[in-house]
Amino acid sequence: MTKTLQLGIAGLGTVGAEVARQIIANHNHFTKQAGMPVMVTAVSARNADTDRGFSMQGIQFCDNPLELASMDNVDVVVELIGGSEGVALDLVQAAIANGKHVITANKALLAHHGYKLAVQAEKAGVMLAAEASVAGGIPVLKTLRESLSGNQITRITGILNGTCNYILSTMQHQARDFDDVLAEAQALGYAEADPGFDIDGVDAGHKLALLGAIGFGTAPSIDAVDMTGVRAITMTDMENASNLGCTIRLLAEAEQNDDGEVLMRVRPVILPLDNQLAKIDGPLNAVTFTGTPIGAVTAIGPGAGAGATASAVLADIIDLALGRISPFFGVPADQLAAAPHRTAPQKPERFFIRLKVYDRPGVLADITTILKDHAISVESLLQSGRSDDGENGDVPVILTTHEAAPQAIAAASAELAQLPAVLAEPVILTIGQD
Ligand SMILES: NC(=O)c1ccc[n+]([C@@H]2O[C@H](COP(=O)([O-])OP(=O)(O)OC[C@H]3O[C@@H](n4cnc5c(N)ncnc54)[C@H](OP(=O)(O)O)[C@@H]3O)[C@@H](O)[C@H]2O)c1
Repeated sequence: MTKTLQLGIAGLGTVGAEVARQIIANHNHFTKQAGMPVMVTAVSARNADTDRGFSMQGIQFCDNPLELASMDNVDVVVELIGGSEGVALDLVQAAIANGKHVITANKALLAHHGYKLAVQAEKAGVMLAAEASVAGGIPVLKTLRESLSGNQITRITGILNGTCNYILSTMQHQARDFDDVLAEAQALGYAEADPGFDIDGVDAGHKLALLGAIGFGTAPSIDAVDMTGVRAITMTDMENASNLGCTIRLLAEAEQNDDGEVLMRVRPVILPLDNQLAKIDGPLNAVTFTGTPIGAVTAIGPGAGAGATASAVLADIIDLALGRISPFFGVPADQLAAAPHRTAPQKPERFFIRLKVYDRPGVLADITTILKDHAISVESLLQSGRSDDGENGDVPVILTTHEAAPQAIAAASAELAQLPAVLAEPVILTIGQD
């Protein structure tokens, strides 16, 4: 490496432009922290004419980001374009192949190709770092990989998607409908224009795949993560959760059972209000690591946004300058165990079931018969109000169960959905969190 660390930044959007602005505006600070000057020597974006809030004087603009991978005046490619395939993947592979270090915030890329890229980077002797890819400004990957490395990690639980957390916590506190709050989250810049990755749990799934890989020493696998998002959650669910002294949050959970199997899932969960994660509001993220001998440790902070995400990218840049290069997954990638398979949950849990049914006699009896047939014990059952449209109108039926086997709930749900009086897929949420 030269005595100046030369950055080639691909992508000058929310994160990339902020990284460049920070490096340029705080040159002396970075020289001190990094032990050498840190310079942005080249950048790439789609539009060369956009004002990015920093001077482009002395910085080479590349129309094609792949050029950064082979430029002599680039030591490290900072990939901040995004996406699991296409230009981001091509750029990272080319950079590593040319002996360039790579820093990225791209969880989708690493959840899909992280194993292959880590092997490639380790063979090439270059850094692959992505602290910003999980929980934005909260230093969770480094914490898990380094500060907690002496622990046997048994469980990782997190709120990893700020958009979903903003939607659910705003529904909770302001009693507003899902679509209304989603539109607000989009206007505030929390949600993507196509919010599918956020609200279907995919973004949290990408992050969980990386946490699970580092925590449990397995190759990352997005296919191993069972993902349910928040699309189906209504104010009826939130109000009923509130009646139980609870709220709803989208949780990402990875745990290893006694047989060594890793279970990873993203799903909305009904949490008691005094649960630490139930208190996380707005676009914040939080991650709890549980292990031996530490017990549990929780980190809370801003999971997205220009400043928070740039903070994590900047830390990777300084680590590189100081030679603090560790394998991305904590151990060399070729020592990781095989990727886990998607594992069905076994532990009994309490469930909340919401059904949309015709307001007709006998419907409740049909529902409880199915639950009884699957040995599911009902704790409470509520059909509130009557439909104004008589027997052709619909009403919500809310049930909570005592602890039941997840397989039994899944089988019962499939049968409930077939009842002629049931008008929509049952909404089933787990209650509680130990
Ligand atoms: N935003 C966050 O809060 C956050 C948090 C954590 C992680 N991340 C990750 O950080 C990465 C960047 O996110 P972002 O929010 O900064 O994205 P963004 O605002 O959409 O910016 C993307 C940038 O990439 C450029 N770009 C797109 N396609 C390109 C191409 N083919 N060639 C050259 N440049 C191209 C765009 O150029 P133009 O500006 O000219 O269109 C834009 O500058 C993603 O991997 C994301 O998942 C973001």
